[in-house]
Amino acid sequence: MDIGVRQGMAWNETPNPKILGVEGVGRVVAAGDGVEGLAPGQRVAWVYAPGSYAERIAIPATSLVPVPDAIDDRTAASVMMQGLTASHFATDFYPVQPGDFAFVHAAAGGLGLLLTQIIKLRGGHVIGRVSSEEKIAMSEETGADQVIVDAEGRFTEEALRLTRGEGVHVVYDGSGPKTFQGSLDLLRRSGTFCWYGPVLGGPGPLDIMSLPKSIKIGYATFLDHIHTPELLRARTAQLFGWTADGKLRIRIGGEYPLADAAKAHADMESRKTTGKLLLVP
Ligand SMILES: NC(=O)c1ccc[n+]([C@@H]2O[C@H](COP(=O)([O-])OP(=O)(O)OC[C@H]3O[C@@H](n4cnc5c(N)ncnc54)[C@H](OP(=O)(O)O)[C@@H]3O)[C@@H](O)[C@H]2O)c1
Repeated sequence: MDIGVRQGMAWNETPNPKILGVEGVGRVVAAGDGVEGLAPGQRVAWVYAPGSYAERIAIPATSLVPVPDAIDDRTAASVMMQGLTASHFATDFYPVQPGDFAFVHAAAGGLGLLLTQIIKLRGGHVIGRVSSEEKIAMSEETGADQVIVDAEGRFTEEALRLTRGEGVHVVYDGSGPKTFQGSLDLLRRSGTFCWYGPVLGGPGPLDIMSLPKSIKIGYATFLDHIHTPELLRARTAQLFGWTADGKLRIRIGGEYPLADAAKAHADMESRKTTGKLLLVP
């Protein structure tokens, strides 16, 4: 998302120069008048506060969640956006059922690793796609049953073979226009297409009459599901609980000083990174 905003694919109504970033973890410095339940010194995390590449930031109290002692800062910072997104995709947008085949793009990325684990927690079968051989081990260690290496949108045939020609129940695709048609072709009858990545480019106009096999297709945005402070706290508590119990393993693929944010962007754009990248002020 940060790369897309930097490249001018979103937030264009905010004039430049603008501060990137939406999520983070920190300590409360001061609480505004009338704020209850948040005190200076308390550890908090957040998932959507534009301008989060900052040492200090003003955030509405309703957007903050307290971080339990069992969860360290790095873990909390890693699980907010990608964890809430992954749990929305696998439990709400398409509630994965035991035995379902799910196809996960960018399966060694921060989102892909968490999505894989949540699908496995629900009893699903994961076929992951990664762009290079080096990422296979990470994806498999996290639970992917099979991993396909492809960076050009040519994964469909192999994935169909792995499902004995039936196709998958759900495909999670945020990887831009190159993968869209292949993902569509991979769905079985009445399958679900969870599309989520506008900043890597959309599929262009779609003729609804051209959609095959009674599939359901939609643009999943976690903010639509987690739209109240109560839901934010409940969903975050579930993620923190899974993490503290060892059910969800958080993979931090790299840490960069905040001053080296440009390098973090370049590394991610090179498609060589795995897991979550953190900026540390
Ligand atoms: N709808 C929502 O609610 C929501 C929420 C969070 C994120 N997102 C979207 O999910 C996608 C992944 O987000 P993320 O920030 O959490 O990162 P991430 O999961 O860590 O994903 C990064 C991975 O994306 C793949 N990728 C493919 N094309 C890329 C490109 N041109 N530049 C960089 N990476 C590319 C790479 O994997 P391979 O090289 O293996 O393909 C890379 O490892 C983004 O499109 C983001 O906008 C949507």
